[in-house]
Amino acid sequence: KFEKIWLVFGIISLIVFLSIVGVTAFSQDHHPSGGMDTIDPKKVDQTAPFDNPGVTQIDDDTYQVAIVASAFSYTAPELRVPAGKEIIFKVTSKDVVHSFTIDDTKVNMMVVPGQITTRAYTFDKPGKYLILCNEYCGTGHHFMFTEIEVY
Ligand code: CUA
Repeated sequence: KFEKIWLVFGIISLIVFLSIVGVTAFSQDHHPSGGMDTIDPKKVDQTAPFDNPGVTQIDDDTYQVAIVASAFSYTAPELRVPAGKEIIFKVTSKDVVHSFTIDDTKVNMMVVPGQITTRAYTFDKPGKYLILCNEYCGTGHHFMFTEIEVY
C-alpha cells in the first residue's frame, strides 16, 4: 500500500514537471519580441526590410535594424543606434546558417536561410559592440564580424 502512494506521487510529479516544461517552451515560442517569419532566400535583396538594410527609426522609442548575413559578412551599412531605446533586430541569411551575436549582451540569434529572426534589445551603455558569427559556416567563419555603435 505504501509503495502505491509513492508510485502515484511519482506520476503526479512527472506530470507537473512535464507541464512546466511544456508551458515554458510554449511561452518562449510566443514571446512578443521574438519569433520567426519566412522569406525566400533567393529574393532577400528584393524583400523588405532587407531591400534597405540598416537602421530605421520606427517611433520615438523604437528602432529597427535589418541585417543580411551571408558567407562571410553582415550586409549592412554603418550601424549606429541610441542607448536606452528598443532596438528590433531582424536578421536573415542568404546561404547557410550563421549567428548574429552581439558581444557583451544577451543577443545571440541563430540566422537561418529562409527565415527572418527577430529580437528586441535595449542597450544600456553607449560604446562600440562587436557583432560576430558563432555558428561554424565555412572557411571564412572566423572573419565574419562587424560592429555596432551605441551612442
Ligand atoms: Cu557565419 Cu560563422
